[in-house]
Amino acid sequence: MERNTLKMAENIYWVGARDWNRRLFDALITLPKGTSYNAYLVLGEKEKTLIDTVNPGFEKELEEKIRSITKLEEIDYVIMNHAEPDHAGAIPYIMKIAAKAKLVTTVKGAKMAQTYYHIPQERIKPVTDNETLNLGGKTLRFTEAPMLHWPETMFTYVEEDKILFPCDFFGSHLAGGVYSDEVEDLLIHAQRYWGEIMMPFRPMAQKALEKLKDLEIRMIAPSHGPIHRKPEIILNAYKKWANGETRRKVTIAYVSMWNSTEVMVRQMAETLAAEGIELAFHNLASADIGDLAKDLVDSRAIVLGTPTVLGGAHPLAVYATYLFKALRPPTKFAVLLSSYGWGGGAIKQIQETLGQLQIEIVGVLDINGPPTYDNLKQIVEIGKTLAGKVKEKP
Ligand code: FEO
Repeated sequence: MERNTLKMAENIYWVGARDWNRRLFDALITLPKGTSYNAYLVLGEKEKTLIDTVNPGFEKELEEKIRSITKLEEIDYVIMNHAEPDHAGAIPYIMKIAAKAKLVTTVKGAKMAQTYYHIPQERIKPVTDNETLNLGGKTLRFTEAPMLHWPETMFTYVEEDKILFPCDFFGSHLAGGVYSDEVEDLLIHAQRYWGEIMMPFRPMAQKALEKLKDLEIRMIAPSHGPIHRKPEIILNAYKKWANGETRRKVTIAYVSMWNSTEVMVRQMAETLAAEGIELAFHNLASADIGDLAKDLVDSRAIVLGTPTVLGGAHPLAVYATYLFKALRPPTKFAVLLSSYGWGGGAIKQIQETLGQLQIEIVGVLDINGPPTYDNLKQIVEIGKTLAGKVKEKP
């Protein structure tokens, strides 16, 4: 079959795979637009390298794409920037055919390659920060970038062409698109991806960006989604997100059983909107968790709404609160709204979960049954206080 590859620079090619129909990742992350597993060939005058591989199931496609450019048996190095199977899962298949190839990875990656992929130690070449590998006219420089988003992650940079291969970092879950400047809503997808995958590791992202600061980068070729040939756009977005810069924006995440909590959060939304606050409104009964993660990236506050059910918060609100805690967004303020039928418990449970976070609880309202006129007035007051805090300079 004719296989589509992409020449990105002289002797550098994209040979990855597009997974148009994948809808779930890690049994957690929804993929409304599928994803891609980007692998790249870098051909030096002396030696040939494959940077990352593809998800299991796409091995043959990768092989055929490589063979349309060069002989797979002649590959000298397979670079494993990251050990997660969506990039490393095809390594055993590739290294069996490329029988002389060595696997290049960090010291931690070497251990993972043995554990997950049974690559013998003698076929692994561990590298450390700033180490280089000269392929002949193509020099690879490795940058350790731990916890982005696994302990072993690293970036590979081709010095002559000034192309950075950072694996997951700077990625987006999009099956379509070649270059990011051709994708109209790229930054929305990149923000969603950041929120779901990189946001919990903001301090590590800051360190990695600091390491890249003085590097001349002409192109960024991540392992998911389009390639950035105008790298300043994604670099600037990552700087903002890593620094935890927020907007005058509030995310409302709630669930309601008999409309009482719904009326409460709607009153809050009306109040905040009237105060000129940007809103993201998520009914957890139907919300896409990826969208919620995207909105948490730059929201200055969150409003959580839940009824009490069976002595605690509604399970959807428990899940959202747990996720909020795990994703560690830069959110500074919170408001909790709840309605109970005959006995409370939801607010206590949510507060216990949030208690370990550095977040100011601006207001709490826990009422019995549907909100009264006075309750709605209380919500307006809490909303105005919250708006005031959100409008203050962060
Ligand atoms: Fe795309 Fe962490 O794997």
